[in-house]
Amino acid sequence: MKAVAVIPKKENSVHLVEMDKPDPAEFKDGRGVLVEVLRVGACGTDREINNAEYGVAPKGFDFLVLGHENFGRVVETGKNVKELKKGDFVVATVRRPRGSSIYDKIGTQDFTTDDKYYERGISRLHGFMAEFYVESADFLIKIPPALAEIAVLLEPLSIIEKGLKQASDIQERLKIWRPKTAAVLGTGNVGLLTVMALRMRGYEVHGFGRNPRTGYLNAELCEAIGATYDSTEDVSVKDSTKKYGEYDLVFECTGFSPIIFDAMQSLNENGILILSSVTGGDRKTDAVPSDKINQMFVLGNRAMVGTVNANREHFEMGVKDFALCEAMYPGWLVRMMTHKVEGLENFAEVFDILEHSSKYNAIKAYFEVKKF
Ligand code: BGC
Repeated sequence: MKAVAVIPKKENSVHLVEMDKPDPAEFKDGRGVLVEVLRVGACGTDREINNAEYGVAPKGFDFLVLGHENFGRVVETGKNVKELKKGDFVVATVRRPRGSSIYDKIGTQDFTTDDKYYERGISRLHGFMAEFYVESADFLIKIPPALAEIAVLLEPLSIIEKGLKQASDIQERLKIWRPKTAAVLGTGNVGLLTVMALRMRGYEVHGFGRNPRTGYLNAELCEAIGATYDSTEDVSVKDSTKKYGEYDLVFECTGFSPIIFDAMQSLNENGILILSSVTGGDRKTDAVPSDKINQMFVLGNRAMVGTVNANREHFEMGVKDFALCEAMYPGWLVRMMTHKVEGLENFAEVFDILEHSSKYNAIKAYFEVKKF
């Protein structure tokens, strides 16, 4: 079968490889599932791995099959798989509990404290940019057929769902927390999914991006789901509070780390800031009003939390938000799926879109590996 791979730490090494079709019998406990890949999304993480910023090949290989945003259909199941059958649509989670930390042992590998973590398509495990994969049923989420068209967006949504679950768990400190307003920093595909998830929870949502409003599809999508859009070229997040008031929750997904200090100053008393950008560079910033920020956090009981990866429950929360969004704003989610590329052999096109997403006006580029 065909797969799209990189040589980790070698710049622009993305290429096609030929591999054996995997066998679910690899799972000796009878829990193996063979899945035919239908669609795979591409994101900044894939771009950064191809730019040699990170990524680790599995043991015994000098290449890593890319792809973690996935959607497929069950072809064959092991004898101990009762919850899935041939023909079911599925999305696989990304991280596996292969580390030695207590969190891996209790099935919350998204909280692993190990430096070496195991993520399909990212670190030490082959990913889903392939015609087939095998996986234990434990890591497969069943997708209702009515959501098949947009299910390739579930993995990025799972990251947000985990962030929001973190926030609500942390805010239990307050006994009563009735958040009303939220700011979402960044309106790329992760930002837009965050806007959606917060709108599904009834927040008044304010989205912020760098692009000017006029003619910007992402801004249009914010407004189409009942949120606002402002360009940070016109108003900083901190200053936007003069217009919208301070935010109960701020979700950062720009990839531009200096903005977090601005975000800290836009939080309401008892508010929470969630950081989700994996900023692999070495950007620095000065002119941080540290006394002011520190005092705001202390006197206002404000909180800030970083979040990465997602577990089964977060994917399941995402399926419910998708269903609600389709009911409330039919056709909104599919508008994010701007660039479909048919066939894994056309990987160069997908990576060109990733590298020049603003030239293409791309929100989400993805492979259609097989029509369904
Ligand atoms: C993936 C996460 C992963 C993170 C760090 C993100 O792009 O969606 O599943 O944990 O990268 O590798």
